[in-house]
Amino acid sequence: RPFLDPIPPLPALYTSFGFSVFALLATLYIIPAVGPAFIKANLKGIDLLKTDKTPVPESQGLVAAAVYILLLILFIPFAFSDSIATFANAKKKPEGISVIEFPHYQLSVYLSSLLSLLIATMLGFLDDVFDIRWRHKIPIPIIASIPLLMVYYAERGNTDVVVPIPLRFIFGNLVNLGPLYYVYMSLLSTFATNSFNILAGINGAEVSQALIIALSVILNDLLYLPWPLDFRIPLHLLGYRADVEVGGVYSAGMAYGSRELVERHLFSLYFMLPLVAVCIGFMYHNWYPARAFPGDTLCYVTGMAFAVVGIQAHFSKTLLLFFIPQIFNFLLSCPQLFGLVPCPRHRVPRFDHNTNLLHPSKTLFLKPPSQLTTFVLGTMSTLGLTELTRHPTNGTILEANNLTILNWFLLRLGPMNEKRLVQVLMCSQVAGSLLAFTVRYGLAGLVYDG
Ligand code: UD1
Ligand code: MG
Repeated sequence: RPFLDPIPPLPALYTSFGFSVFALLATLYIIPAVGPAFIKANLKGIDLLKTDKTPVPESQGLVAAAVYILLLILFIPFAFSDSIATFANAKKKPEGISVIEFPHYQLSVYLSSLLSLLIATMLGFLDDVFDIRWRHKIPIPIIASIPLLMVYYAERGNTDVVVPIPLRFIFGNLVNLGPLYYVYMSLLSTFATNSFNILAGINGAEVSQALIIALSVILNDLLYLPWPLDFRIPLHLLGYRADVEVGGVYSAGMAYGSRELVERHLFSLYFMLPLVAVCIGFMYHNWYPARAFPGDTLCYVTGMAFAVVGIQAHFSKTLLLFFIPQIFNFLLSCPQLFGLVPCPRHRVPRFDHNTNLLHPSKTLFLKPPSQLTTFVLGTMSTLGLTELTRHPTNGTILEANNLTILNWFLLRLGPMNEKRLVQVLMCSQVAGSLLAFTVRYGLAGLVYDG
């Protein structure tokens, strides 16, 4: 059987679950309790898509982040309870503890992850308070990911990617990306943090994305745990191979087989279970009609949490598959993000007070667009991605729909209310995850030999 090493004990996982229940209760209780204090500190925003203009406490993602990070810190001794127990036993023996190795490596994985989460929280909160410019905030998550990359390097983390069968005659079985793989991982942290922030502006949008991705990561992690029942065989029959993700290091050909693999996914669970808990707690208050706004803090800390587990537990490529709606929204947004098309301060859909429905919002061209912009928007409009208003006589573009996935849903599915739109967004996220699992475990067998 492919159990190569003894499997680490799981009690810490139950503790993590207990901590998460506590995290859920804490966020449920603290968020409304500190709302007035946030408003007093001028951390408030007007809900753009409501008739009621009472300020709503903003950047309350700070509460979720604080609960999350503090509980992760409190959990450290539990995560290492196995090693602590081994130490205690070894002291009783004549040879003493000198022969026992403490898993310093795993401790550095854990601590560097906390460091990155703290930087993300700090950056998000500063952004909420000072509205940092895009060119300043893009590089910060890259710097925040250096501790993660260093730890990855220290463990001689794999930098190979498995080449799909049809391309092997050119590249061979494996391609070693070397330093490029590190560039990719650091960009992942910037992408994960910012992509939630630009898919925002309707009640529940930011937190529901994080919640569904966290649940998908958990589901993926559970596939790697040593379950008493062997339900992984069907996965194997689907052509699943553990070594597709890890680039051929494991040849067990099964989801399990290595203590290291189990430990990595346990680590990911320790970070994802409390994240799900704080997201549910936050979502309760952020659900339509919102009594609390996440602010950039929530977007940054949740995004960084995904980058952390993806890198530290070595499944960054699978992780990226869970970001399909965010990748689509980012690609769609590129003309506005990179200055081809004017980008207003808010790109949220337009609210119609009379019908209570949302419509796609528009960006205005104050001066005629360049040839390149006209070409790009023309192509996007042909593909059904945006809608243009042209000058009746000379055909120059006067207006275009703001290029976001939310406006695109409204364009394709027609006007709807805010609650329905967030539900559509959540469905697309779930559909993205289902597709991700199919690609990862179903199609991998077709593209890679099983
Ligand atoms: C990003 C988006 C911007 C979008 C904004 C909404 C880009 C490049 N930027 O900017 O287009 O309008 O997020 O969050 O895509 N708000 C609501 N309802 C909500 C959540 C937020 O009305 O459910 C409004 C509130 O006025 C709140 C404000 O959005 O105060 C927060 O905006 P902020 O997070 O500061 O905007 P950015 O992240 O800079
Ligand atoms: Mg924001």
